[in-house]
Amino acid sequence: MATVILGIESSCDETAASICIDGEIMSNEVATQIIHRQYGGVVPELASRAHQQNIIPVVDRALRLAGITMKDLSGIAFTQGPGLLGSLLVGTSFAKGVAFSLSIPLLPVHHMKAHILSHFIDKPKPDFPFLCLTVSGGHTQIVKVSGFQTMEVIGETTDDAVGEAFDKAAKMLGLHYPGGPEIDLLAKKGNSRAFSFSKTSMQELNFSFSGIKTSILYFLREKVKENPDFIKDNINDLAASIQFSLIQMLFEKLEMASKQTGINEIAIAGGVSANSLIRETLHQRGIDLGWNVFVPKFEYCTDNAAMIAISGYYQLQNGVNEVDLEIQALPRLPF
Ligand code: KG4
Ligand code: ZN
Repeated sequence: MATVILGIESSCDETAASICIDGEIMSNEVATQIIHRQYGGVVPELASRAHQQNIIPVVDRALRLAGITMKDLSGIAFTQGPGLLGSLLVGTSFAKGVAFSLSIPLLPVHHMKAHILSHFIDKPKPDFPFLCLTVSGGHTQIVKVSGFQTMEVIGETTDDAVGEAFDKAAKMLGLHYPGGPEIDLLAKKGNSRAFSFSKTSMQELNFSFSGIKTSILYFLREKVKENPDFIKDNINDLAASIQFSLIQMLFEKLEMASKQTGINEIAIAGGVSANSLIRETLHQRGIDLGWNVFVPKFEYCTDNAAMIAISGYYQLQNGVNEVDLEIQALPRLPF
């Protein structure tokens, strides 16, 4: 009999559902909450309300596109954390209800581990052990991945996440939230060496992005004092230079991690891995350093439920098959 998993993602501002049948993704639906744009960031209360409105239609679409009904499900996977509590509660409660009514396994998934396992959706899949640079709005980590459940964080940010740095810099430039994709677009028309910003150098494999954020802020303040149109006149060069500096910081540590561990199987994951310069740089490093590189398909970079469904599938394959209805959403779920 086929193993059919429904995956639910509701950790932040995307309500998503996906169907995975025997390890193949059959549908991957997402409802993006655009309401947050006008506030310059995700408003938790509005996010949970929108999840509540969206979850049934999104699940319904995912089931219909996969050509199945609820009765066909073998298990339900959901994001247990980390994320916003009010958002996580919608997905968690929905998943518990489905598991209870159908008596099928309830499969809790760690959001960041799921970003990493998005590499097992399509081929080629990385071999264990591999290193994964996970870069999102809330995380910046280098993870040594030795198995589907065996993952060790060997480097991480001590303050802001790189996605946050992109978004905050974008806000200083007067761009919309989330600013990462906007910086990426503008940077294509700019000179990445036009401006440079001072960075905090960190020990070992850790990152710090608060220093560069402050440096960008002071730089812009000074320049705008001299010329109020400075940002408007230089928007493309500013975007390209900020993007280049942030990505340089990531690759410096990723190269160090590869040298230290002797691992040349290198992947990226998380929302910021949608960035075109990160993708390009990783491919180039692959050629220059002999790395075997893995870049997820664009739709699997930002928050999605296919990564949750595939994580649930591998949990079930590895013998996790309980219905523990006591399980709770955990906004700070440890890695
Ligand atoms: O993984 P994700 O969708 O949500 C979290 O779990 O945080 O990541 C969202 C982050 C945001 O900070 C967004 O600005 C960033 O990913 N992002 C990008 C790009 N696309 C999304 N940053 C730079 N360039 C992009 N193309
Ligand atoms: Zn994410």
